[in-house]
Amino acid sequence: MMARRSLLVGFGGYLPDRIVTNDELATRLDTSDEWIRARTGIAQRHIAGPGDTAVSMASAAASQALDYAGMRAGDVGAVIVGTSTPDQAFPATAVRVQAELGMTGGFGFDLAAACSGFIYALSMADSLIRSGQVDSVLVIGSEVYSRIVDWSDRGTCVLFGDGAGAVLLRAAGDEDEDRAGILSTHLHSDGRTGDLLYVDGAVGQREKSGFLHMRGRDVFRHAVAKLSDSVDEVLRVNGLSHGDVSWLVPHQANLRIIEGVARKLELPPERVIVTVDRHANTSAASIPLALNEAVRDGRIRPGDLVLMEALGGGLTWGSALARI
Ligand code: COA
Repeated sequence: MMARRSLLVGFGGYLPDRIVTNDELATRLDTSDEWIRARTGIAQRHIAGPGDTAVSMASAAASQALDYAGMRAGDVGAVIVGTSTPDQAFPATAVRVQAELGMTGGFGFDLAAACSGFIYALSMADSLIRSGQVDSVLVIGSEVYSRIVDWSDRGTCVLFGDGAGAVLLRAAGDEDEDRAGILSTHLHSDGRTGDLLYVDGAVGQREKSGFLHMRGRDVFRHAVAKLSDSVDEVLRVNGLSHGDVSWLVPHQANLRIIEGVARKLELPPERVIVTVDRHANTSAASIPLALNEAVRDGRIRPGDLVLMEALGGGLTWGSALARI
């Protein structure tokens, strides 16, 4: 009998209606479209409206993923939400999403790994399926960083946006293509670098302000080095070389970091899915949002080998390789 594998069978995304351009930010901050584009590749971001929350956006993205797969919420075994910006300390975003979707069975939990949240959630979901605990998992990233950035700090607030993305995983059956599915996932963290990118305070430390802080230059340096190592690791474990990868679907923090990893993989720009120009950094939502876009517009097709990677506060980082 073949080992159990997780297929990516559904994709969904949600972006708030309101778009804020760099030029709009420049009307209230000492910054410019030119500075932001040159350093990051970002031109605009979507910002949550009063009705947009981690739960509402996650539920919208998850509904789309279910529709894509032709599955009902009642058939789903588990919901995992990667988020650093939940609406409440508890219940978890994931159980609120269960209720929104009408699920009365299964289980849900949140996972906090900052911008690596989707890779971590995908890895946990894959493990649940491989171990036989469940047959399907909704893996969601949902974030409202507009509510944790200091809008007077030009060094951080220009970098982030809001949104949610979702992928539905299902255990492969006898009738499925036997090469498809998640091949491997690889997770890392190093708490010694925790002060490079953090939010000061939460419900356990109310006296702190709850704003995001970052040492941008140091994060940049770590991102390039650790993501390069991560890409090497995932290829080595799978006995693959650069030319075997069809698509890079990276976490969308900064175009210069993305281009660095693509160069390392010897992938031409047209083989890299980029949304950072329009979405900015949506943290745990960025990879599933990018996947959703590229699968729906027909760039990523069945049989393609997709490499995903991310780095975030913690520092946390990791990669995943999947055949669609
Ligand atoms: N507009 C204009 N000037 C700005 C600015 C803005 N939005 N933000 C910072 N500056 C200024 C700084 O004040 C500094 O001015 P000074 O030299 O007079 O002090 C100058 O630009 C250079 O700042 P620095 O932070 O050294 O710039 P940088 O080239 O490192 O670019 C980042 C800053 C944040 C774009 C870059 O470090 C980066 O992308 N880091 C990675 C961040 C990231 O991806 N984080 C998320 C990981 S999940």
